[in-house]
Amino acid sequence: MSQPVALRQPILIRDLRIDPPLLLAPMVGLTHTALRQVICDFGGAGLLSTEMLSARSLPVENPGVSPYLIRTASEKPLSYQILISSAQEVAPAVDALHAVNADAIDLNLGCPAPAVARRGAGAGLMEQPGEVRRIAAEARKLTSLPLTAKIRLGMDLDMGRLQDFCSMLEDEGIDLISVHARLKQESFARNPRWEIIAGIKEQVTIPVIANGGIFSVQDAEKCLRLSGADGLMLARGAAIRPWLFAEIARELFGCAVPTPAVSLPALFCRFVDLLNEHFRPEHRLGRLKQFIHHFARNYQFGHHLASRVQSSDSVEEARERAERFFEDNEGCPPSSRPSP
Ligand SMILES: Cc1cc2nc3c(=O)[nH]c(=O)nc-3n(C[C@H](O)[C@H](O)[C@H](O)COP(=O)(O)O)c2cc1C
Repeated sequence: MSQPVALRQPILIRDLRIDPPLLLAPMVGLTHTALRQVICDFGGAGLLSTEMLSARSLPVENPGVSPYLIRTASEKPLSYQILISSAQEVAPAVDALHAVNADAIDLNLGCPAPAVARRGAGAGLMEQPGEVRRIAAEARKLTSLPLTAKIRLGMDLDMGRLQDFCSMLEDEGIDLISVHARLKQESFARNPRWEIIAGIKEQVTIPVIANGGIFSVQDAEKCLRLSGADGLMLARGAAIRPWLFAEIARELFGCAVPTPAVSLPALFCRFVDLLNEHFRPEHRLGRLKQFIHHFARNYQFGHHLASRVQSSDSVEEARERAERFFEDNEGCPPSSRPSP
């Protein structure tokens, strides 16, 4: 694509400029310092994220060693997502996030995992708008940082209810809403409902970000067109192709980001080096196995790569096995449109 098709304005929320309006989604086990640094190597992401952090555990985490909190100066701006179930949990969590110099705080209102919903957090909270109102109001009172919320579309398709919920978030001082365009019970197998986001855009004046099912520049263009969103958020696509932000930033938003020069083996090795550099030994292998589940999709026969890494007993063994796979598959065309 030679002409940017969707020249988008940077987003400004409080003092935070999100430029370009391309956000990394929170992902448990994936959006840690190693993946964020690999993404930053390519450029193009306007706001990075942690994985969801339990509001109850945050105050006792040690930011110097906690695998959830380790970050480098290059990972900026960085939003911290909290998983929270009541207004009482807000103050200690916000204090902890001030102490680590968070650039923004995101409320998780969209995680559908049954264990999370049972404790009244994540998507379960969307069914308790009163509690969400108290949480948002308390957070707004306690921080001047940008405060954002990540939601799903709700339990069932009810546009009025969804719009009321988003208006309530705006009224309570939420600065930006990102929307994973699926209902609470819908799996990744279902196509995201990007067009529903347009109904939220009509309702609120704060920026609305579209999330779900973006794996290519073409997906990004279509999602923007159907949703009318102010920006996009990438989750699995960012783990499969950490250079996708750079591609979208260049091709859709006309940003002066270098064309990504991608070597899959080099990227894999850089990721392993970063795990070794920043994480304690016991925290490395699990994260590598989670990453390879997604990254291996770049190869036509990537399941062989994934299974070799996932059956390894150490990072060193995983690396050797992956390097052998790369040698054997040298010159094989990468999967042209990797999907989940
Ligand atoms: C492995 C994994 C972990 C996730 N963890 C979180 C999380 O911590 N917080 C959250 O709000 N959403 C989480 N999500 C949901 C994503 O942020 C995103 O909404 C969803 O994957 C749809 O986007 P995608 O199609 O670009 O992957 C997770 C998704 C995956 C695949």
